[in-house]
This record gives sequence, C-alpha cells and structure tokens, in this order.
Amino acid sequence: MSSSQGTLNVLGFAGSLRKASYNKAALRAAQELAPPGMTIEIFDLAPIPLYNDDVRLQGFPPPAEQFRARIKAADALLIVTPEYNHSMPGVLKNAIDWASRPPDQPFNGKPIAIMGASPGVLGSVRAQMHLRMCFVFLNGLLVNQPEVLIGNAPSRFDADGRLTDETSRELIRKLLDALAAWTKRLRG
Ligand code: FNR
Repeated sequence: MSSSQGTLNVLGFAGSLRKASYNKAALRAAQELAPPGMTIEIFDLAPIPLYNDDVRLQGFPPPAEQFRARIKAADALLIVTPEYNHSMPGVLKNAIDWASRPPDQPFNGKPIAIMGASPGVLGSVRAQMHLRMCFVFLNGLLVNQPEVLIGNAPSRFDADGRLTDETSRELIRKLLDALAAWTKRLRG
C-alpha cells in the first residue's frame, strides 16, 4: 500500500516483556502466517519509559518518539495483548498513552487488528474489550472479526514458543486477511 509494489506494511507489538511470552510468540506466528503482500515488523515496547507528562512537555523520549513515528509510517497495526486483572497490561497501556499525545496522534484513522493469548480459557477477551474502548477515543479503526482469543495457551505452543495449534493459526490467517481487506477498503 505505502510502497510502489503495493506491500502492506504492518507494525506489530505485544504487551508482554517476558522472553517466553505467549503473546510475543503469537506475534511471531502472525509474521509467519502473513498473506502475500503483507509484512509485519515488530516493535519492542521494553525501552519505553513510564508516562510522565512533565517529561513529555520537554519532548518525547526517543523510544516513545520512535514508536510514534513507526505507527505513523505503518499502513496498519497488529496489537497482541495479554490479560492482566481483566484488562490490558500496564506495559501496553503505557505505550499507547505515550503515542497518543499531541501533536498528530498517530492512531487516528489507523487500521488496527488485535488478538491475544492467555493460559485461561477466555483467551484475553476482557483485555481485548478494554483495548477496543481506548481506540474509540483515539479513532483507531479496529477490525471486528474474527476475534482471535488463544485460550489454554500452554497447550497451543510448543516448548520453543511455536504456535502449533492449527485452529489458532487459521484464525490468525483470517484476521490478517481481514486486516488487509479492511486497510484497502479504508484507503478507497
Ligand atoms: C495475569 N494473568 C491473567 N490471565 C487471565 O486470563 N486473566 C487475568 O485477568 C490475568 N491476570 C493477571 C495479572 C497479572 C499481574 C499477571 C502477571 C498475570 C495470567 C497471564 O495471562 C499469563 O501470565 C500470561 O502468560 C501473560 O502473557 P504472556 O506474558 O505469556 O504473553
């Protein structure tokens, strides 16, 4: 889309910093499952400091500024969220808070797909609902379906963090197809 070859450049990030994170593993699976013409680059949220409006008024710290620039440059986003206490983790909310500050908040009008994994049976659904609520305010344009809720995560990934569950892999393929179609539709 943004390049002359018609490639769809997606920026992906996961709300877990854990090395063996199921959500980071699901994001790697999405890279593997991306349809032809889509690339998914991963942004690591770890270097983003805790939000402080006093700091922001002096200028965005480099990791937050880089995050904003990468969001702006991407054709679409893929956000992979764990569920912490029935909501999204602070790591993810903090990164969204930094990126959302003026000027030119980069989520405005951006096509966004979300998914998540949890060892519990509900597969991050409550975190995903809260994420959707944030993007109402930020005017992020979220793909509604399919919902990718990877419950019982330990049974769906192998010891090396590869998503082995075919049902989940197929759902991610469908989500990425829907994101590609949604992005094209929004661009007219
Ligand atoms: C959790 N976990 C969790 N799981 C869930 O399904 N619903 C929840 O509300 C919570 N709450 C929660 C709070 C906190 C502070 C932690 C640390 C964990 C468990 C969580 O889903 C599990 O640790 C996942 O493995 C986290 O995702 P990653 O790191 O594997 O991507």
